[in-house]
Amino acid sequence: MKKAKRLSQVQASLTLAITAKAAAMKNEGIDIISFGAGEPDFNTPAPVIEAAKNALDNGMTKYTAVAGLPALRAEIAAWYSREFGIETSADQVIVGVGGKQVIYNAIMSIIDPGDKALIPAPYWLSYPAMVHLAGGDVAFIDTKEDENFLMTPNMLEEAIVKHTPALLILNSPSNPTGQAYTENDLRALADVLRRHPDVNILWDNIYAHLTYGGFKHVELSKVAPDLAPRIVTTGGFSKSFAMTGWRLGFAIADPERIRMMSTLQSHSTSNATSFAQAGAIAALKLDKNILEDMRKTFENRRNIVLDEISKIDGVSCAAPMGAFYVLLNCKKFCNIEHGLHWIQSDIDLAKFILEEGHVATVPGSAFGAPGYLRLSFALDEDSIRKGIQRIGAALESLKA
Ligand SMILES: Cc1ncc(COP(=O)(O)O)c(C=O)c1O
Repeated sequence: MKKAKRLSQVQASLTLAITAKAAAMKNEGIDIISFGAGEPDFNTPAPVIEAAKNALDNGMTKYTAVAGLPALRAEIAAWYSREFGIETSADQVIVGVGGKQVIYNAIMSIIDPGDKALIPAPYWLSYPAMVHLAGGDVAFIDTKEDENFLMTPNMLEEAIVKHTPALLILNSPSNPTGQAYTENDLRALADVLRRHPDVNILWDNIYAHLTYGGFKHVELSKVAPDLAPRIVTTGGFSKSFAMTGWRLGFAIADPERIRMMSTLQSHSTSNATSFAQAGAIAALKLDKNILEDMRKTFENRRNIVLDEISKIDGVSCAAPMGAFYVLLNCKKFCNIEHGLHWIQSDIDLAKFILEEGHVATVPGSAFGAPGYLRLSFALDEDSIRKGIQRIGAALESLKA
């Protein structure tokens, strides 16, 4: 059987491996608490479901325009203008099959074989895979925990000079760190980018509406409108609208970039599902309280996570400003020989915690953060408390 060379550039995701093991244990009847999920545990708000059902009843079962229903593109443009104070028109919008596909399209429209992309680490694991699939190379910029895993202007300047990249990928708030750039941070990064006009920027804001502790998300294009022609902003409905299964994402960019992405999309998925797009129009018109209730629920959970983690000796984490993840520093437990267990890495540690504590986490190595575990707090408060206490007990047993 032939295997294309490009497949050697990407590995099956570590996230899926641990999720699969956790699922298998659950099937055996074991009570597993999973901090692995990258999706809200809420159902999609009812008006969105209703709108999609109506669309089906009304015969919306055909192809739509490749870049999305004109009404949805217009609605996204109006919503984006309202939410972030950036005047946006429908021809600056493309709708795709999830944020993931839109990011893939954006990268495919920018990266040529041999081009470099800069990615601050820790990173969402699909970014490097997509750059590799486009034939590009990745240079990671290692951020520091004591700087909240944020890339500094100096780090960016040095990396651009060293690598002459075609693309910089930024994600704020971040999966997996939960950290986010402030307006001042962005101004300083924009100053660097202004000096390097050949660098395109992919700005992934998919968690922009899930922020905590009073943090207010700011868009890069708002802070630096002069850079807008080389920024592709990507987002989606999965996270803040609880619509992961609908597979709907969008990009906002210069109309020329949108045309390039549409050309690519016309030969891959064509359009996002017609009646799902009808649901998305309703999502953008939802009563804000519905979304705010979900955000508040996440904020409470985040506070419980931080409280429970503070009770465990030997681990730490930076309080997340957004998204629904914490990155737990477990370096003290990543080189331990204990009875039958020889834990040499975060991957071994995640396996140990799953097997001994019956708790699923994701090893930080999957995100370029060895020595850490990522915990998603997209689960109920009791499970969060119980799960983190179990992690604490499992770690404590390693000390004995
Ligand atoms: C940082 C980030 N960007 C984009 C996505 C894509 O989400 P979706 O394809 O469901 O819209 C995800 C999903 O986990 C993510 O974490």
